Amino acid sequence: MPKYDYIIVGSGIAGLYTALLARQLGTVLILTKGTIEETNTRYAQGGIAAAIGSNDSTNLHFEDTLAAGAGLSDPEHVRILVDEAADRIQDLINFGVPFDTIHGEIALTREGAHSRDRILHAGGDATGEQIEMTLSRLAQMSRITVLENILVTDVIVEQGRATGVRTLDGRTDLAADYEGHFILLTTGGAGRIFRYTTNSPVATGDGVALAYRANAEIRDMEFYQFHPTALRLPGAPPFLISEAVRGEGAILRNKQGKAFAKNYHNLGDLAPRDIVARALLSEMAKDNSDNVFLDVTHLHDAKIATRFPTIYKTCLSHGIDMAKDWIPVSPAAHYMMGGIVTNTWGETTVPGLFTCGETACTGVHGANRLASNSLLEVLIFGKRLIQKTKSILEDKEEMSGIPTSGGSSLAKHSSRDTNDIPLSFSAIQNLMWEQVGMIRNGHDLAKASQTLASWEMDLANEIGAQDQELRNVILTARLMAEAALQRTESRGAHSRSDFDSTANEWEKHINFQKSPS
Ligand code: SIN
Repeated sequence: MPKYDYIIVGSGIAGLYTALLARQLGTVLILTKGTIEETNTRYAQGGIAAAIGSNDSTNLHFEDTLAAGAGLSDPEHVRILVDEAADRIQDLINFGVPFDTIHGEIALTREGAHSRDRILHAGGDATGEQIEMTLSRLAQMSRITVLENILVTDVIVEQGRATGVRTLDGRTDLAADYEGHFILLTTGGAGRIFRYTTNSPVATGDGVALAYRANAEIRDMEFYQFHPTALRLPGAPPFLISEAVRGEGAILRNKQGKAFAKNYHNLGDLAPRDIVARALLSEMAKDNSDNVFLDVTHLHDAKIATRFPTIYKTCLSHGIDMAKDWIPVSPAAHYMMGGIVTNTWGETTVPGLFTCGETACTGVHGANRLASNSLLEVLIFGKRLIQKTKSILEDKEEMSGIPTSGGSSLAKHSSRDTNDIPLSFSAIQNLMWEQVGMIRNGHDLAKASQTLASWEMDLANEIGAQDQELRNVILTARLMAEAALQRTESRGAHSRSDFDSTANEWEKHINFQKSPS
């Protein structure tokens, strides 16, 4: 069996960044189920938050992050996030990431629920793409082995320790195992689980599913963020219209042309993302419409085209000139706050298994992520993850994993719990959108959980790569639906019509583990 010091699953910013640091310590294998170019990071437009502006402070960034997290962010972890931000940004600059500047200084913009302008961007609205391109160029020039079109189907666990991975070739279904000293899950998010999403086609929740099956603890899966403004046009994919567009002055308008955001929150168009997204739903329902509009027509044409070149071109390709026309928008699935439980050193509850990025739950986002904290989270905790493995390699520390906090396994369903809807990817996406989406209720969540469990049983004997990916989608969806069913309150991004207020007794996490100890 081929053996590597580091096996990294996923090739977004989390995979590439950790790989570039790890290559100085040992052999590195990146396994990616698509190509190195097709990752969720590439779709990140807004940027990276860091308190580097002259009127800003890490304390303000800390407070804004905790406020967005609605009582469930871990303050110690958030403190690390904001304090180490400037150094990690410098690392990216050293790697060659071309952040946008103005008068020789790094340009900073604002996004929802930030009290200062603190979002760094690159290529205008192509921050993710610029970072991804810089890092993947470096990875391709270095001694890192990258295998594309390889789906990891299981983490191999021996005597309680992760020791390798099982894989299937996505083109041939050929199986192969790889042995690794450190196994890193950096597979990104799960937006594809929902009908409308801003995410890339590879975002199917694989890391969470792999970790759960390996008996790692999973947390906060009920907290899923819906972005308020994705392009909504018949036949067009729900392309992200960055919150930075509102940061530069765009106004949300309903069908009558009225600006409505101030009716929902005093920060108006730049209120926290969950509040804006629900405001859109409410306006759309009042007007019996599929969308509202984003109006940037009052900004200078040149500014629109240079600050948002990707959005401008994409809208134009759909016949919308955003300098003159309002953009039809509606919410879409965007970011998974929960994931694999990890400490601030990337360790999971399974020794040898590490994680960072969207698939991890470091606890910094709590119930709702502050915009542009996600790329930052990757850098901060990815760096610490590699520092931890270095200490282990140098025999200064043990490969011990972190203690579990006492989760429960998913509900047991009997094979008699069948349903009439045939299993397909789009059936899952529709079910998740309609029953586990932005506004939830106990009846629908219970029904969704049961349907997902019966689909899981339908797949039990299928072994091809596509079915294995579907298996991951269903497992991740089940974790979301069951967590959302258990949380009988509304908090942050989790909104229940049958429990519409926040309850003090729910200021706690929901954890899952396959075989709780
Ligand atoms: C955006 O550009 O609106 C998305 C940024 C983020 O999700 O952090």
